[in-house]
Amino acid sequence: MGLLGGKIAIVTGAGQGLGLAIAREFAAEGAAVALLERNADTLEAARDDIEAAGAAVLARQLDVSDYAAYADAVAATLAWRGKIDVLVNNAAFSIQDSIFDSTLEDWRRVITVDLEAVYMGAKLVVPHMVAQGSGRIINIASIQAFAMTPGLGAYNAAKGGVVAWTKSAAIDLGENGILVNAVAPGFMATPATFVDGRPQSEQPWFQDFYVERGKVPLRREGLPEDVSGAVVFLASDYCRYMTGQLLVVDGGVTCTF
Ligand SMILES: NC(=O)c1ccc[n+]([C@@H]2O[C@H](COP(=O)([O-])OP(=O)(O)OC[C@H]3O[C@@H](n4cnc5c(N)ncnc54)[C@H](O)[C@@H]3O)[C@@H](O)[C@H]2O)c1
Repeated sequence: MGLLGGKIAIVTGAGQGLGLAIAREFAAEGAAVALLERNADTLEAARDDIEAAGAAVLARQLDVSDYAAYADAVAATLAWRGKIDVLVNNAAFSIQDSIFDSTLEDWRRVITVDLEAVYMGAKLVVPHMVAQGSGRIINIASIQAFAMTPGLGAYNAAKGGVVAWTKSAAIDLGENGILVNAVAPGFMATPATFVDGRPQSEQPWFQDFYVERGKVPLRREGLPEDVSGAVVFLASDYCRYMTGQLLVVDGGVTCTF
């Protein structure tokens, strides 16, 4: 059966990177997975990949900030399997910004996708979780919520908001048997952080500071599968008495200064 046998999960931003790894690992653990993704090509490839492994998949192309399309996808998932046990709010993006030259439009776009859509996605699934008396909402935050690098003000603010909102939602939804937790990845080898199509960890500056000098105690960049295991735990029955928490998966980088 696997750790998630019989569970129905929605994973946003599932076309590549952490979202794809989470969707794959959920499927490997027995869940049926609805993939929500704005990129049609990566969505199709992800669906084919997970279906080929023998899992049940529903694929919906949408932007998570298009709430009418998101509501349709939730309805389609319910029509497909009759329930939603887990929502993984993973989709996000960043714009390099500085307070001097970034625009209010950029700020609002990042806050909308990275924070507001987390709230709206939850709002769409929570009534169904309340009706069944159980559910898991897992928000992919970032160590940037509390240990910032420069030029990412809107993204960092959104991720800080995701952590705070995770705690608020955990309080509001606890009596309904719905657990709300977050994961904060550190440096991850995903397309979002590639430099010229290659992992940033291959760059001399990364090797020197983060590996050779031990800024990352585990001496390497994280792989998507390092995060997906933590998310499986939070979705599984092994996680029963934990809500409103932030699991940091960063190779120890935020333990150092
Ligand atoms: N890569 C890292 O180092 C890192 C570190 C900390 C946190 N994170 C977080 O992990 C999550 C996944 O990041 P990743 O590195 O895999 O990124 P990624 O860019 O490689 O993948 C993100 C996926 O989400 C999709 N997406 C983005 N905006 C969307 C939208 N509006 N609607 C639907 N789909 C959308 C993209 O098309 C893409 O498939 C994000 O929440 C990110 O903030 C990543």
